[in-house]
Amino acid sequence: MKTVLVTGAAGFIGSNVVPLLLTDGYRVVGVDNFDDTYDVRFKEEHITPFASDANFELARIDIRDRAALSELFKKTAPAYIVHLAAKADTRAAVENPYPYVDNNITGTLNVLEVAKEYGTENIVLASSSSVYGNDTAMPLQESAVADHPISPYGATKRATEMFAHAYHHNFGMNITCLRYFNAYGENNRPNMVPYIWAQKLLRGEEIEISGGGTRKRDYTYVGDTAAATLAALKKPLGFEIINVGNSSPLSLTELLGVFEKVIGVTAQVKERPSHSASVEETYADIAKAKELLDWEPTTSIEEGISRLVAWIRANRL
Ligand SMILES: NC(=O)c1ccc[n+]([C@@H]2O[C@H](COP(=O)([O-])OP(=O)(O)OC[C@H]3O[C@@H](n4cnc5c(N)ncnc54)[C@H](O)[C@@H]3O)[C@@H](O)[C@H]2O)c1
Repeated sequence: MKTVLVTGAAGFIGSNVVPLLLTDGYRVVGVDNFDDTYDVRFKEEHITPFASDANFELARIDIRDRAALSELFKKTAPAYIVHLAAKADTRAAVENPYPYVDNNITGTLNVLEVAKEYGTENIVLASSSSVYGNDTAMPLQESAVADHPISPYGATKRATEMFAHAYHHNFGMNITCLRYFNAYGENNRPNMVPYIWAQKLLRGEEIEISGGGTRKRDYTYVGDTAAATLAALKKPLGFEIINVGNSSPLSLTELLGVFEKVIGVTAQVKERPSHSASVEETYADIAKAKELLDWEPTTSIEEGISRLVAWIRANRL
C-alpha cells in the first residue's frame, strides 16, 4: 500500500481528492493548517467523511514549517505528493500579497526541498488558470508564454511552476503542475461565485453580477478536477504543465441561466463593477490532458450545478 501526502487536504479540492485516493487503495496522509481564509468549521466538516478511515491520517501542520514537514516525511515516507495547500483568494492577495508569497511560494519550496531530501516517485502541484492573465489567445494553451498574470495570486502560482521546473531539472524529480480552471461543487469554497449564488438564490436573496455579466469562466466540476489529479499522480511525466478545465466556458449571465433553471427561480440581480485582478475569460485547451493523462471532464454544467445546489441545500442554508 503506497502512501500519498496531500497538502491542503481539508480544503475544497483536497477533500474531494482524498476519498478518490482512499477508494483507489492508497494510504493518505493529509496536511492542513486549517487557516482562517474562510470559516474553519467548514474545513472540519470537509474531512469528517474520511477522518476516521483506517488508511487516513491527518497532520495539522503548516507547510511554512519546514522542520515539521521534514519530520512528517521521515515518519510517513510518502511515495507521492499532491500539493494543494495555498492561499487562493485572488482579491485578498491584491490587498495583501505577503501571506501569498509565504504560503504559496515559500510553502511550495519547503514541499519541494523535503521531497528532494526523502525522495518521491511523483508530485502533482496545484497551479491555476490565473497564470495566463489577460493577453493569451483563447483557448488557453500550456505553450503560451504566461508571463503576465494580473493578480499577485497568479504570480505566486507561476512562480511555483518555475521552482518545480528547476527542481525537476537539477534533481530529476517528477512534477506535474496542473492548471486548475474554476472548480465548483461539493465542499466549494464559500467566497466563490457558484457557492454565493446557489446560497442566495435558494434563500430568495438578491445576487450581484459583475461587469455586465460578460466575463467568461471555464467552470469545472470538482469531481472531474479530482479525477484529473489522480490521473496525473499515477503517471510520472518528468516535468509537465497541464490544463485541467471543462473546455466549455460560460459567461456569468449564462451561468446564472443554469442556476435559474436548476433551482426554478428568476434571480433578482444587482450590477457591480468587475475587480481589476479578475481576468476577462478563462477557457482551457485540454488536448494535452487528453493525450498525456487520458482525462477529460465527464460532468455537464447542468449536472454539476445540480450537485452543488443539492449540497448547499443540505449543508449551507
Ligand atoms: N478552486 C479552484 O477553482 C482553483 C483554481 C485554480 C487553482 N486552485 C488551487 O488549488 C489548490 C486548492 O484550492 P482550493 O480551492 O481547494 O482552496 P482551499 O482554500 O479550499 O484549500 C486550501 C487548503 O490549504 C490549507 N492551507 C493553506 N495554507 C496552508 C499552509 N501554509 N500549511 C498547510 N495548509 C495550508 C487551507 O487550510 C485549505 O484547507 C490551491 O493551491 C489553489 O491555488 C484552485
